[in-house]
Amino acid sequence: MASRSIDTHAAFFKPYLRLGMNLLDCGCGPGSIALGLAKAIAPGTLTGIDREASQIRIAAESAFTQGVSNANFLEGNIYALPFPDNSFDAIFSHALFEHLQEPAQALRELWRVLKPGGIVGLRSPDWGGFLIAPSTPELEKAFSYYKWLQQQNCGNPYVGRELRGLVRESGFTNIKASASYQCYEPLSEATEYLALLIEASAKVDGTVEKGWTDERSLTAMSRALQEWSQHPDGFFAQAWCEVVGWKR
Ligand SMILES: C[S@@+](CC[C@H](N)C(=O)[O-])C[C@H]1O[C@@H](n2cnc3c(N)ncnc32)[C@H](O)[C@@H]1O
Repeated sequence: MASRSIDTHAAFFKPYLRLGMNLLDCGCGPGSIALGLAKAIAPGTLTGIDREASQIRIAAESAFTQGVSNANFLEGNIYALPFPDNSFDAIFSHALFEHLQEPAQALRELWRVLKPGGIVGLRSPDWGGFLIAPSTPELEKAFSYYKWLQQQNCGNPYVGRELRGLVRESGFTNIKASASYQCYEPLSEATEYLALLIEASAKVDGTVEKGWTDERSLTAMSRALQEWSQHPDGFFAQAWCEVVGWKR
């Protein structure tokens, strides 16, 4: 996530940014995209919220190191934002909605804190559209397990394709949807994260204890990802879906 930037991951939203805007980034993580957004709207203020205190600390440190003075980062939950109604000119959220159990409820909260005439921009992956080569049964298993894990955690690996409908049903208008692919180069950028998540799932999600899998399978999936990342022909493209909409 730390290697993401406004140009690589928020290009769909950039044309709508204006100098002096008051902008919220929901689920900002380590803030790598948020700091680019802050620079694009200066002297406006970027507020980044995330429910993980550790992410907020990293984002605030990066802002300090990079000398970005128009960004504030605070702990917060998208379902209960600590802001009055009509606070922001624009709201951005990247790679969060696939983790939400109640996306419509989250959008109601975004609507509340967005000013009339304001814009919302969301981007999430859709795991129905990823491309991998060369494939092996163990690698396929690893990707299936990752998607299944996200569903077990009440997320939705296919939320990307649903963003347009979710935003429309929440009352936003003039909606524009688009999609793009990200190719991971080097492959290890993606495989290390996936292998870590898969290995940690025994402890974090209790998947072995619950009898959903066993240590041997987890190790085999993780190894398949690591071997694939060294393959000279290894290719991984991930589909991202994007949507913007306005509060009239
Ligand atoms: C995959 S990361 C994306 C981070 C960043 N937007 C990016 O794309 O690099 C998702 C972030 O959303 C945060 N998150 C998850 N559920 C949340 C919630 N209910 N409210 C606020 N943040 C949340 C997580 O802590 C995590 O930092």
